[in-house]
Amino acid sequence: MTAIPVIIDTDTAQDDCVTILLGLLDPAADLLAITMVAGNVGFEQQVANAHLTLNVAGRLGTVPVHLGCRRPLMRDWESAEDVHGDGSGGLSMDRDGVTESGEHGVDALLRLTAERPGEVSIVAIGPLTNIAMAVVKDPAFAARVKSLYVMGGSNNGRGNITAAAEFNFYVDPEAAQVVMDAGFADLRIVTWDPLTLRDATIDRARYNELCELGTPLAGFFARMCEATIDYDESVGINGSTHPDSLTLAILLHPELVQASARYRVDVETRSELTRGLSVMAWEKFGLTPNATVVEAVDAPAFYRVLAGLLATATTPDRPVTGLAG
Ligand code: BDR
Ligand code: CA
Repeated sequence: MTAIPVIIDTDTAQDDCVTILLGLLDPAADLLAITMVAGNVGFEQQVANAHLTLNVAGRLGTVPVHLGCRRPLMRDWESAEDVHGDGSGGLSMDRDGVTESGEHGVDALLRLTAERPGEVSIVAIGPLTNIAMAVVKDPAFAARVKSLYVMGGSNNGRGNITAAAEFNFYVDPEAAQVVMDAGFADLRIVTWDPLTLRDATIDRARYNELCELGTPLAGFFARMCEATIDYDESVGINGSTHPDSLTLAILLHPELVQASARYRVDVETRSELTRGLSVMAWEKFGLTPNATVVEAVDAPAFYRVLAGLLATATTPDRPVTGLAG
């Protein structure tokens, strides 16, 4: 098997951390870089969460962490700290000597795709600010990307930060629209509703099974997902939500996808009421499609991907304060 060269563009908290673990440890992935974008929690906390994740995987310092855009293109940053807490369950480590790349995340996206045109895929699991900046900075960027997998929006369904909008598209709707218009040859979208809510939400019983696998990764998973599952259940969602790791999982294991369709996707930027709403127009409307929207995945198989990942024995490079065992 040839591993897939991939960059993860992330607002690292909770399921973003799971996604990085998958990128590090799944043999199907060749993780080239992590690029950071403003989103879920404070920027410095996101950076800390990324290093912590590398550490628990026993891979500290092996994949560059590039700092990208610290705010959306045109709007103030808004967080999801009410959903994720600090995104890693209060765990911490000594970061002495641990550094980020000096290269900006947007420049890393441009360089890595220029070094291997047509080969590198990007999995974008935060607001799309970095990806949009790369599009604006270099008009040839989109054509160099093999596949862009985006977690964002809902398929004409419910939002999560407002009734209309999913968080990643809501935080930077202008960036999301730039990306929709950029002409990526293979743009895939993993939505919040209905896909994630139906196929990537792990109920409490199975969540507990994952937490009790007895590895450092399972202990880490239990801590970093605790705030989110509590929040999710408090708003009527039946379990722990994993949209970001599903997005990478379907790049690595395309057989997980059971249904998808071409759509013309646009993102609302003008209305305050429906800011960030993703309008997904299907065939009937005669518009030229710009994205493939994933509509159904093999949920039990996705759970097995997560269980296999979290059962992997790793040795953290440094002690993790707060992690049992
Ligand atoms: C998305 O928003 C974030 O809170 C999650 O990390 C995910 O990328 C879900 O709406
Ligand atoms: Ca995310």
